[in-house]
Amino acid sequence: MSHSIHDFSSIIEATRRHVRETLPLDATGHDWQHVFRVTRTALAIARSEGADPIVVELAALLHDIADWKFHNGDHEAGSRAARQWLAQHHVPVEVIDEVAAIIDRLSFKGAGVDPAPLSLAGQCVQDADRLDAIGAIGVARALAYGGYKSRPIFDPEHLPVLHDSFAAYKGSVAPSLNHFFEKLLLLKDRLQTNTGKQLAAERHEFLVKFVRQFFAEWSGEEQLPAWDTWRERHGI
Ligand code: ADP
Ligand code: NI
Repeated sequence: MSHSIHDFSSIIEATRRHVRETLPLDATGHDWQHVFRVTRTALAIARSEGADPIVVELAALLHDIADWKFHNGDHEAGSRAARQWLAQHHVPVEVIDEVAAIIDRLSFKGAGVDPAPLSLAGQCVQDADRLDAIGAIGVARALAYGGYKSRPIFDPEHLPVLHDSFAAYKGSVAPSLNHFFEKLLLLKDRLQTNTGKQLAAERHEFLVKFVRQFFAEWSGEEQLPAWDTWRERHGI
């Protein structure tokens, strides 16, 4: 169903204010700045894909309002908080349901875990969220998140794992460089919209360059053969 911007402009404005005030300034790249970028990108994707801009904007604004990573692994905390906020503002129940379903299904759950199906609006928001995890901003966010979690940047002895359950992915305490092989370098092939895929190409290339340069500086003359298959897989 499509909704007119006019009916929803005040709830969208209120949601923007609410999220900006609620999300704490954080060091992990899950702050208002992230939400702002994701919302802008999601709306741009939605315009070219013909998705409902109201659902897209509400879901993008609310997608990290209570992320499981910061709520003891409770992965329904986000959709619960979003439902509560939207219901308080008398948003029609079918819009609330779609926004909540998107928020529940947005997160990456491990390289080997089948993704839950998303509406077109959900695909736009997920692609935008994933675009913010790659490119220069993606590199910055991954290293910031690792630092926040007291993870080392790199450990040659600690190889990546393609997690086949959300529990295993969630429980990982691997160094930050592993996250590139476990998630970030895989994202370009997992974007869902053509617009998202086009936007991903340059950012993915930057990730590859960054990891290639990282290994060049790290190893110098020394080789790290255990990493060769991981690097070859991505042309690194
Ligand atoms: P998702 O909902 O898919 O988890 P988010 O928007 O919440 O996406 O943020 C994911 C970002 O958080 C990653 O792209 C990365 O920058 C950071 N992150 C999450 N887990 C890790 C990790 N294990 N190591 C480094 N960065 C991580
Ligand atoms: Ni996000």
